[in-house]
Amino acid sequence: GGEHPPRHFLELMDFEPATLRRMLDLAAQTKRGLGAKPLAGKTVALIFEKPSTRTRVSFEVGIRQLGGDVVYLNARDMQSSRGEELSDTAKVLSRYVDAIMMRTHDVNRIREMAAHATVPVINGLTDISHPCQLMADVLTFEEHRGPIAGQVVAWVGDGNNVAQSFIQAAARFGFTLRLATPAALRPPQWVIDWARAQGATIELTEDPVEAVRGARCVVTDAWVSMNDETGDGSAPNRHNLLAPYQVTPELMRHAAPDAIFQHCLPAHRGEEVAAEVIDGPQSVVFDEAENRLHAQKGVLLWALGAG
Ligand code: CP
Ligand code: NVA
Repeated sequence: GGEHPPRHFLELMDFEPATLRRMLDLAAQTKRGLGAKPLAGKTVALIFEKPSTRTRVSFEVGIRQLGGDVVYLNARDMQSSRGEELSDTAKVLSRYVDAIMMRTHDVNRIREMAAHATVPVINGLTDISHPCQLMADVLTFEEHRGPIAGQVVAWVGDGNNVAQSFIQAAARFGFTLRLATPAALRPPQWVIDWARAQGATIELTEDPVEAVRGARCVVTDAWVSMNDETGDGSAPNRHNLLAPYQVTPELMRHAAPDAIFQHCLPAHRGEEVAAEVIDGPQSVVFDEAENRLHAQKGVLLWALGAG
């Protein structure tokens, strides 16, 4: 840790648009190929309180490609699982590593980590957000369709953590976001109010057709997120509520003719998306998954001041 406050990457709302742009520029630059190893001598701890395929592998591989090293930490194996305070964990890890990535079931835990760490803390998904995903999603949209500012993006399904980061991204990257969700699964009002106060256009409806009409990008996510797997019977209820929100070829016909389909993955064919859509020509989901690697390199280079 140094004299300057660490460059945490917690929520898109914490940043000026130009700073996020800088990270995406760094991402695009590294994607084109960097000769040097800008993270040589740096070590990043990756803490997971929930499962992951993409986030884990893209951070591990990305950091190594930049010349750095990683320590994977399953939260179950850490002393915090038997009561060690997160503030102590944050202070100790800060003596060993140069940055901490954390995936947690409760946003307050990553905030606690960031409050006590003297190295950058990067959000790898919480119950209310997934900002690394959005950096990859914006990069992917722009690679396929050019600048996202002024475009219409339609979110269809659950108003979950990824939806909430989409709302923040709409404000930060200047696109219009239409969300079609069941009334009971709308994103929290505070994040919608925040985005609108920033000048963003956020439109809410219960009708998927209304949301996707003319959209350049249609996006959905799992009906049951990791935080919803509580065994309290909410999963069947979600399936009933969300059944009308499947992204089908018929729904895609209401979007712009050149609309792309995005999904952060993991996907559930026959639930939130029909196989014909996610495996069809409009789908960019594997470019999106690949871009986690590149987008996160941009975030890391910014956070570690190596860009
Ligand atoms: N999209 C995403 O974050 O995937 P993982 O849960 O596999 O990391
Ligand atoms: N909304 C999903 C995203 C997984 C990457 C979840 O939180 O489980």
